[in-house]
Amino acid sequence: MACTVLLGTQWGDEGKGKITDLLARDQDAVVRFQGGNNAGHTIVVGDVKFKLHIVPSGVIREGVAAVIGDGCVVDPWVLDKELRDLESRGISTSNVVVSDRAHLIMPYHRELDRVQEASRAGSSRVGTTGRGIGPCYQDKMGRTGIRASDLRYPSLLEEKVRKGCRDASAICGALGGPVTFDPDEVLGKLRALEGNLVPRTRDAPALLNDMLDRGARVLLEGAQGTFLDIDRGTYPYVTSSSCSTGNASAGSGIGPSWFERVIGVSKAYTTRVGEGPFPTELNDHVGEMMREVGREFGTTTNRPRRCGWLDLVLVRSSVRWNSIGELALTKTDVLSTLKEVKVCTEYALPRETAERCGLPTVIRDFPSHLELLKECRPIYRTLKGWGELSKEEWEAHRSDGTLPQGLDGYVSLIEREVLAAVTLVSYGPGREETIELGGS
Ligand code: GDP
Ligand code: IMO
Ligand code: MG
Repeated sequence: MACTVLLGTQWGDEGKGKITDLLARDQDAVVRFQGGNNAGHTIVVGDVKFKLHIVPSGVIREGVAAVIGDGCVVDPWVLDKELRDLESRGISTSNVVVSDRAHLIMPYHRELDRVQEASRAGSSRVGTTGRGIGPCYQDKMGRTGIRASDLRYPSLLEEKVRKGCRDASAICGALGGPVTFDPDEVLGKLRALEGNLVPRTRDAPALLNDMLDRGARVLLEGAQGTFLDIDRGTYPYVTSSSCSTGNASAGSGIGPSWFERVIGVSKAYTTRVGEGPFPTELNDHVGEMMREVGREFGTTTNRPRRCGWLDLVLVRSSVRWNSIGELALTKTDVLSTLKEVKVCTEYALPRETAERCGLPTVIRDFPSHLELLKECRPIYRTLKGWGELSKEEWEAHRSDGTLPQGLDGYVSLIEREVLAAVTLVSYGPGREETIELGGS
């Protein structure tokens, strides 16, 4: 198994951190290939909880290289703090590598994020995490960004920071925000943390391809999720990077022929933080129960997550777009108090809309336009629940590799509907609270 790609099939927070940490036991490197510290990946080992934002989830496993790849945007101050926090908790960070091609989030990107959000009226607000992700990717695509390798070239860095501050001041001024950013202050603050950053800065594609040539196993850890993807997500309510299998190659510098396994992580229900459409959202006591029992509050911003039934139109499209062969189904324990559970398998369209758009009245692929999505009504199947299980009962299923009655039917329905094998079923935040169903 050379490379495994792992990504979220919904709107993020599917449990990618937990599953990455579990699989990292058999990996030599774990690589983040997109996004930045908008991500919040939680790992629970015994009674210790880690919340990682930019450091790859492989860091918790000793000896695994944790590589922040080319396609990431890195807030150097957040990275520095995260590394120090990990060290203070006894986790070695000597294997954490930053790609020298990764772009750096500057303080003015954070401010631009805030000012751009404030300038968006009402329903056009995205509900970003405010971490400067969009503005940093804007600079990257505009070819004015600052890359980690620039830290090695002080006069070039100074020139870029001065230009960045000037441009950001002008944009902020035009949007009604604070007008000036002081380049000397930014440069001074950058210098203060170079010692923890520059020695980790490497040619990551060269490092990873050397490892692969020697037979290493590499896991590519996606952040966000398919429906936050800049191309296929619910645009414009998306993040500014591609969260897809294709970008696992582009964002790491590992050619796609190394990819042997693609795992999609799906929550047993659906959640979303921030603005944007959500066809199966529940604004009732069931949604409230999911939020309370599932502790659905953002790992990064602590915002309450919106909750709703499992939407297999999302998962099916994600499977197809990403070549997902296996699914890891998480948070199945959260639904266990319910006598009945619902699953959306298709969307129904009004007849005249279907005729106008040349579509059938029942659609199985996620629509590309939000105006069409607005007219979609979820079609649900209702299944019997699996009831509450004691710790011992879950453990018995774990050791036998079997599923509780009811959950087996839920899993079969998912497999039939989306055409991927559910190989992992998670029933708690802990590393060990996972039933492995084989197939790998
Ligand atoms: P990520 O962004 O995809 O890594 O997911 P987050 O860490 O943001 O959110 C997932 C949350 O669910 C975290 O608090 C996890 O500890 C927790 N979690 C993961 N799997 C399970 C599970 O099977 N059951 C329960 N109850 N919690 C889980
Ligand atoms: P993980 O990796 C859930 C959402 C934000 C907002 C939109 C754009 O933990 O699953 P951004 O700050 O990226 O410009 O915000 O994307 N968002 C996430 N939602 N999980 C995440 O990451 C997210 N990262 C960004 O809430 O709606
Ligand atoms: Mg998260």
